[in-house]
Amino acid sequence: MSKITFTDFVEKHPKIKFFFTGGKGGVGKTISAAAIAHYFAFTGKKTLIASLNPVHSLSSLYGQDIWGKGTQKIDGVENLWAVEVDIKDKIGTYRDQLTERITSFLKWADIPVDPSSFIDIAVTNPAFEESAQFDAMTDIMLEEGEDYEIIVFDCAAVANAIRLLGLSKIYDLWLARMIESRKEALSLRVKLSFRKQKVAEEVKSDPMMADLLRQHTKMKKAKAILNDVEKTAFVFVTIPLALPIAVVRRFITMVRAFDIPVGGVFVNRIIPREAAEQDPTDYMKNSFEQQARYMGMIDEQLGDLVSAYIPLYPTEVVGIEGVAQVVEDMLSFTPD
Ligand SMILES: Nc1ncnc2c1ncn2[C@@H]1O[C@H](COP(=O)(O)OP(=O)(O)OP(=O)(O)O)[C@@H](O)[C@H]1O
Ligand SMILES: [Mg+2]
Repeated sequence: MSKITFTDFVEKHPKIKFFFTGGKGGVGKTISAAAIAHYFAFTGKKTLIASLNPVHSLSSLYGQDIWGKGTQKIDGVENLWAVEVDIKDKIGTYRDQLTERITSFLKWADIPVDPSSFIDIAVTNPAFEESAQFDAMTDIMLEEGEDYEIIVFDCAAVANAIRLLGLSKIYDLWLARMIESRKEALSLRVKLSFRKQKVAEEVKSDPMMADLLRQHTKMKKAKAILNDVEKTAFVFVTIPLALPIAVVRRFITMVRAFDIPVGGVFVNRIIPREAAEQDPTDYMKNSFEQQARYMGMIDEQLGDLVSAYIPLYPTEVVGIEGVAQVVEDMLSFTPD
């Protein structure tokens, strides 16, 4: 049974601002993120739910066209806004910036090469998309975050969310190193040049250096938020099945290794006893028995962290009424 309920967690963390949901694909991350966002919106906090997934999950949940349209008010729920970032837009902007930077760098270094093939390779690399996602997330955390009291991120399926966060540590080291070598290169250029004055001026306004410094500052701020136990919570979602439970256990180990605070585990799609008993076929009864075994496993392996249980509904969760039901169950449903 749950040791710290979601409400206990919120009461113990009065400064909480950022939530992230994680878990295996299809377990209920989006509906859990929506339930958390609605909970805070209902309590009067100005709330944003943000998705960086390439699927239009919030648009379909709310039946509203949110995809790639910036921040949109959710109809029928006070205090709630949503944003679904189209990463392709972001990648396009990156591509333009990169082209400009590389072209100016090659010109500066007197290298007569057409940079378009480098840029094609760079932007088709999957790491580029990941980095664009990370960037979109930090933009929301640091910029739009100013306007909201609560921000709930519905992160990409499976390992992506964690990789996104884990990446920040590596990225930080890499950026620090890049900045150092850029500084060295620039100071060498001043030393070697006969036109010191002019070069020193050029160096000061070096766009690549400015980019690196800006990225570094941004990353540092984002990292500070991600490691802040008072402000940030990562909520993991599982269902009573072996693989999703194993995924959550693995994710928890990973985020803890990066000092990212875990804000509890939601157990979704629980078959209520009456539903199993009322089923004239044996299907639900058998599933219920199987579930009992996995609930035992959850209790044993994640027990202290479980903060909410959500029952299996007869239909999928849609619309604000659907989410309102999840909020109610997240706060009060207890499996028997
Ligand atoms: N307890 C439940 N009862 C019935 N349907 C549910 C329940 N939880 C989730 N669903 C439905 O299952 C589907 C997957 O849920 P959801 O989109 O929240 O999962 P997800 O983890 O975000 O998936 P993805 O990994 O694809 O992003 C949705 O259609 C949702 O409405
Ligand atoms: Mg989802």
